[in-house]
Amino acid sequence: MKELSLHILDIAENSISASSTQITIAVIEDIVNDRLRICITDNGIGMSAEMVQKIIDPFVTSRTTRKVGLGIPLLKAAAEICEGFLSIESQIGLGTKVTVEFKRSHIDRMPMGDLPETILQLVVSNPKINFIFIYSVNELEHVFDDHLIKQELIDLPLTEPSILSYIKQEIETGYFEIHPEFEY
Ligand SMILES: Nc1ncnc2c1ncn2[C@@H]1O[C@H](COP(=O)(O)OP(=O)(O)O)[C@@H](O)[C@H]1O
Ligand SMILES: [Mg+2]
Repeated sequence: MKELSLHILDIAENSISASSTQITIAVIEDIVNDRLRICITDNGIGMSAEMVQKIIDPFVTSRTTRKVGLGIPLLKAAAEICEGFLSIESQIGLGTKVTVEFKRSHIDRMPMGDLPETILQLVVSNPKINFIFIYSVNELEHVFDDHLIKQELIDLPLTEPSILSYIKQEIETGYFEIHPEFEY
């Protein structure tokens, strides 16, 4: 994958598959310290320590009876190339938190891609899941929580054009207000 937003989508899809009802996506641009951090936290089924080890390092075990994807190991490698890291904290029955961090200005750091569009896609495709999107640039922060929108529009399709454009605007306004200019 060439863009961080696609990796975010991939990790959030794992949270969706894990029966989460709330998923928080935090993107923290710390320009002062030149770090870019992404945290995806869910309240899904969680994983054992062995499972976490296995998805971080899928080549360690030779006997795998089930398919294990490569999205997380590839993202981990991409972070480590950029003086960063990827970590997973998980507890069975409670949920999972994936943290990935990069040196923000590193030449090999993937561009963000269209983050508002990715968030919009997750929000409208999963009407029963509460998404919280936190975007921060240094001391500025924008929080989008779809809880109220989803509560009020309980039986209306989120993909209806006027609703879709309303949600899109809610996500984009705060994002572009603080998104650093002339950068991806
Ligand atoms: N947030 C999560 N909660 C619970 N299990 C997870 C989570 N993320 C990943 N997993 C487990 O790790 C496995 C591997 O994930 P991944 O590498 O994305 O591959 P895939 O999604 O194709 O199975 C998943 O199938 C799932 O069992
Ligand atoms: Mg996956």
